[in-house]
Amino acid sequence: MKIGGKEFNTIWFNEINQNVQIIDQTKLPHKFIIKDLNTVEDTINAIKVMEVRGAPLIGATAAYGLVLAMKKNNDVKYLEKCSKNLINSRPTAINLEWAVNRMKNKLLSCKPANLFNTALDEAKKICLEDISFCEQIGQNGLRIIEQIYNSKKKTINILTHCNAGWLATINWGTATSPIYLAHKKGIPIHVWVDETRPRNQGANLTSYELNEEGIPNTIIADNTGGILMQRGQVDMCIVGTDRTLSNGDVCNKIGTYLKALAAHDNKVPFYVALPISTIDWNIKDSKDIPIEERNSKELSNVDGVNSKGEIENLLIYPKKSKSMNLAFDITPAKYVTKLITEKGVCDASAEGLKNLFK
Ligand code: MRU
Repeated sequence: MKIGGKEFNTIWFNEINQNVQIIDQTKLPHKFIIKDLNTVEDTINAIKVMEVRGAPLIGATAAYGLVLAMKKNNDVKYLEKCSKNLINSRPTAINLEWAVNRMKNKLLSCKPANLFNTALDEAKKICLEDISFCEQIGQNGLRIIEQIYNSKKKTINILTHCNAGWLATINWGTATSPIYLAHKKGIPIHVWVDETRPRNQGANLTSYELNEEGIPNTIIADNTGGILMQRGQVDMCIVGTDRTLSNGDVCNKIGTYLKALAAHDNKVPFYVALPISTIDWNIKDSKDIPIEERNSKELSNVDGVNSKGEIENLLIYPKKSKSMNLAFDITPAKYVTKLITEKGVCDASAEGLKNLFK
């Protein structure tokens, strides 16, 4: 998608420098900085500090981490060690583990001399697949937006939480992909963007990327969605997910659950868009999903830009106060209207997901 009118992916391999490049998302929307990742440690750090974030993108970054590892040391023991460190860099999004395991499966049967090239081919494949799967999610979600538009014939108001846009994937996004395709087709769309405290992925990233694509959007405080739904000002919700269980329970950015409850109470359809790689087929009970708890400073301090255009970090809480920063919550399947995947749209249930594979 576009930034400043120019097409970008979120991550790519620089063939000249033989390194990986990313858009540093910690500086958006105030500064657009392309950052070099030269080592596997750089990729681990980028995931930890959220220079890259969003389930599919951290998976792809981990895949490239193993490419950089194999460039340095084409040894299977080193591959195992780096894989473990990459998987441990963030706990909740399953795509991280999925991508690392896919890379390992490919590499473990390779001759040492071929490890780097094979890793590079596979990481590029993961990225290309992600682009095409997200576009397909868009096509499948577009049909839902078209149905609503055909009966409403007026601007469709869509509420989204966090950033499940192209910045969270390689391109297109999951939740935003149907929005981009509907916009391209001329369907009038307006997006309510949840700010998404404490990291403000909605305000800083979703609104930014929608602006760059010319899609009307309004940032709202996280607690505003409920009243908008009561007033009939939301036609549908679409969010992404970091891990969806085979029973349809959805783990996504903290606050998603409350939006789903409000949507249920107000009969607003609540959709979750995801690639199949975000499904955890092993964990059966959502209580067993590892929920990331991040540094409480993300709550007590905020980044902003001062009058000189410099990014500053300011304390906004009493110094003595304690705070708690859980990053994800679980939306039970019963509150999810449908899952939108690259394979089709299905019920959020074991049966629904099974039908996708028939
Ligand atoms: O903590 P983040 O910014 O990595 O969380 C991202 C989300 O919760 C997204 O909604 C989710 O990963 C889906 S991304 C297509």
